[in-house]
Amino acid sequence: MFATGVTIVTARTPAGVLVGLTANSFNSVSLQPPLVLWSLARAAGSMAALSTGSHYAINILAADQKELAERFASGRADRWDGVAHTEGASGAPLLDGAAAHFECFNRSRYEEGDHVIFVGEVERCGHRAGASPLLFHGGRFYTEHPL
Ligand SMILES: Cc1cc2nc3c(=O)[nH]c(=O)nc-3n(C[C@H](O)[C@H](O)[C@H](O)COP(=O)(O)O)c2cc1C
Repeated sequence: MFATGVTIVTARTPAGVLVGLTANSFNSVSLQPPLVLWSLARAAGSMAALSTGSHYAINILAADQKELAERFASGRADRWDGVAHTEGASGAPLLDGAAAHFECFNRSRYEEGDHVIFVGEVERCGHRAGASPLLFHGGRFYTEHPL
């Protein structure tokens, strides 16, 4: 019953391989210093790259990016094919059209149960003015409906 936004966490390995997965476990932690968190299943294929890399980016998806959210949750090896992006200052891919992005230093990780909690230190961020957010609730995607 807890509605969330939807993100795609991205990174580039030292060998240049692009990594990315859909995650809705994102949340804010601290303003001073600016810290965010998200959690990754221990069994995730991207665990090795994301836990050892120095940086990752958290892309906050816009309402018109539902297909990207599904693609990056699919486990498909070709999930990056044709996905428009630019390279952030840390090397992590920033997805075109995202509502916002955070470029994070991979500051700390906490193993808890079958997930690892990642705390990232935000080094840069940006947003797309006027973008509507993609929302996730009860296994379905939505967008905003102002009250
Ligand atoms: C809306 C949504 C949110 C998700 N959030 C997370 C999450 O926070 N952490 C996680 O480990 N997997 C999450 N997943 C599942 C991963 O996206 C999925 O298992 C993905 O294939 C993992 O890719 P990988 O095995 O290449 O790392 C989510 C899936 C969806 C559809």
